[in-house]
Amino acid sequence: MNIGADIDKNLGVAELAELFGGSPDEVSRWCAPFLDAFDFRYTELAGAERDAMLLEAVKRLEPNAVSVAGQGRKPDWEAGWSENLTEFLAGGHQLDALVPKYIRPNEVVRLFGQYARPRAPHFIRNYTKTYRAWLAQRFFADAAAIYEFGCGPGSHVAYFAETFPEKPVVGLDWAAASVNIMEAIAGHYGWKVSGHRFDFFAPDHGIRLPEGTAVLTFGALEQVGTNHGPFLDYLLANKPLRCVHVEGINELYDEENLLDRLALRYHQQRNYLSNLLTRLQELEKAGRVVIESVHRQRFGTRFNDTFSHVVWRPA
Ligand SMILES: C[S@@+](CC[C@H](N)C(=O)[O-])C[C@H]1O[C@@H](n2cnc3c(N)ncnc32)[C@H](O)[C@@H]1O
Repeated sequence: MNIGADIDKNLGVAELAELFGGSPDEVSRWCAPFLDAFDFRYTELAGAERDAMLLEAVKRLEPNAVSVAGQGRKPDWEAGWSENLTEFLAGGHQLDALVPKYIRPNEVVRLFGQYARPRAPHFIRNYTKTYRAWLAQRFFADAAAIYEFGCGPGSHVAYFAETFPEKPVVGLDWAAASVNIMEAIAGHYGWKVSGHRFDFFAPDHGIRLPEGTAVLTFGALEQVGTNHGPFLDYLLANKPLRCVHVEGINELYDEENLLDRLALRYHQQRNYLSNLLTRLQELEKAGRVVIESVHRQRFGTRFNDTFSHVVWRPA
């Protein structure tokens, strides 16, 4: 019996809208070029293949199976973004050279609570591009400037700069290589891009956000564990238009769902972002912030969901 034939699926406009937390009309309009260009078909894993993936996930929860986020990982990020910088310069400034190396082709993903094998090798990269197009129009179109903190190799910075050529787009990261990439992007493409060193653990309050700035973190606050207080204080002091965090958000997992529980344990094992949403809800109760949107995105890489969002602004 060919089980796979029964569970071939596709992400069309309706499914992408549900995943992103928007309307089908928005997805049709804002993501149009990507909808035509990319193949979003996939097959849900079943039987032995699903068991093998579950086993992989369980192995990641064993002692010392994964690297732990925090101060000690700074040299790894520096080395990773240096590699991207070298390729970007050597390969004629191709924007796909700015995609992080940990986004690998041909990997299983998690969709709607199931493991899935995509047809297209670059499904994760293509999905990210499509989601980012929606995100840009939904939360950044009305901003005077865009600041991405923890911008890494700058693929989002480049996209925002190309999409909104009139807006200054600033990429900030604690890795020097990342700032060098921002300079290389600006130099080659002539976009309004600049870069700054910035450490979530010790924010430089000398870096002021211009009025009307929208802030983005994309899989970056992930790296701070419970230590998001200094960055929230920095943001509150700067009164941005809004802050958009696209991150794995621990409070949004369902402990009674098998894949969710494995993802949450993985998230904890890696010391990923913890209780940011809870803290924002406390601040909202105290009248200091307004939470504009919270959405659990039921898409993830093999071991966790990293595309959920919380959007807020100072009250
Ligand atoms: C998973 S990468 C995401 C990069 C980028 N946002 C993207 O989506 O391609 C995490 C980023 O956070 C940065 N980072 C980690 N800890 C940081 C800290 N304490 N201060 C500033 N940046 C940090 C890393 O250097 C890295 O660029």
